[in-house]
Amino acid sequence: MGFPKGFLWGTGTSSYQIEGAVHEDGRSPSIWDTFCRTEGKVKNGDTGDVACDHYHRYEEDLDLMARLGLKTYRFSVAWPRVLPDGYGRVNPKGLDFYKRVAEGCLKRGIRPMITLYHWDLPQVLQEKGGWANRDVVEWFTEFTDVTVRALADLVPDWITHNEPWVAGVLGYSWGVHAPGVKDELTSLRAIHHILLSHGRAVQAFRALAPKDSRIGIVYNMGHIYPASASEADRAAAWRADGLNHRWFADPVLKGAYPTDILAYYEQKHGPLTFIQPGDTTVMAQPIDFVGLNMYSCSHVGHDPEGGDLQLKWYPGTGPRTAMDWEIAPQSLADLLIHVKEQYGDLPLIVTENGAAFDDQGGPEGEVADPDRVGYLYDHIAACERAIEAGVNLQGYFVWSLLDNFEWAEGYAKRFGIVYVDYESQKRIPKQSFHFYRNVIAQNGLPAERPV
Ligand code: FCB
Repeated sequence: MGFPKGFLWGTGTSSYQIEGAVHEDGRSPSIWDTFCRTEGKVKNGDTGDVACDHYHRYEEDLDLMARLGLKTYRFSVAWPRVLPDGYGRVNPKGLDFYKRVAEGCLKRGIRPMITLYHWDLPQVLQEKGGWANRDVVEWFTEFTDVTVRALADLVPDWITHNEPWVAGVLGYSWGVHAPGVKDELTSLRAIHHILLSHGRAVQAFRALAPKDSRIGIVYNMGHIYPASASEADRAAAWRADGLNHRWFADPVLKGAYPTDILAYYEQKHGPLTFIQPGDTTVMAQPIDFVGLNMYSCSHVGHDPEGGDLQLKWYPGTGPRTAMDWEIAPQSLADLLIHVKEQYGDLPLIVTENGAAFDDQGGPEGEVADPDRVGYLYDHIAACERAIEAGVNLQGYFVWSLLDNFEWAEGYAKRFGIVYVDYESQKRIPKQSFHFYRNVIAQNGLPAERPV
């Protein structure tokens, strides 16, 4: 059976991770510019000031995508380029850059896909509370409105938010991502506003975009396996699923927060009064697809000592990437089937999948990355099995086109299928690039695993 005709083979990037040019053409600072300058937050004190210099080299990068035979390219729009004050005054130069990128895609036969929010909130808005301030819902709707008006004729596929769990939990509860807040209740409030702003953005999009353009949301999910087949471990895995997945997906796809996790949070914090009547109706606007970013899986068991939710997380026994994430390709098939069972037969797209390894790249010649080739082969094979099991999977995006700024890890972790020598800004397609080009050309995997 294999991959359906027209399957969307893509790669993804995001603005702060590749663009650089942080002071150029009227861009204002984002929360990541600030976070990078906060002592001890980002490895080696790295920043996105230059990154891959994509702001100046986007034509070259688009040419690489054309060489790859890419069907679709997912990139994000930096809010502080478009609305440097967060709202109000529009900066046409910011929008022009993304128009050039979108046009450059179309010229090369590549279908552009925009992520509206990939974590670079304007710092000026953080000073007003950021995602924890309910006004952000209106600010984000305005940003969506301005961006969709400018780009909807060029861009058919749109994503409101990338990974609300990461933005909300890592940013506002664990404090390891920008803006570095460490407060669970603030985090729940931020998450609520992210999901509400998603719904409002979908409404704004429907009013402006051509009828056949599509909008969805992207979740980071990793399949959660119970540590054993026991009733107690299976219940624990379900609670973990509630904490990491259902809390984010249920309001959008089912119109309500999951009652078990809501009860848990309310017991801990009292009534969550920021959830106002009508909010979940807004969140649950019909969408056209759900994007899943998948890298690994989890193993969870019941542990009476494991905090209020009595959870114990096990590391798993599989091989690991340079991020220390377990490599578990079958879990991608299991996840896709699980999401279909939970949320029904909506179109799914794997909007990110890939791996960091310690690639040794010389400034000249090939970069051999057999581990990444193997990783991609096995995960694409898992997608094929999910399709054969009846999942409506419409696309698969490798993360990432280029090595880039990996958030709190700085430049230490390389996810690209193109090696970037940050000194010279030279791009070197890795072995995985050539592998992926063949996959795209054949609309599927070679019969033999090449590594
Ligand atoms: C995801 C992010 C993406 C990248 C990968 C490795 O959480 O969406 O920007 O950092 O992880």
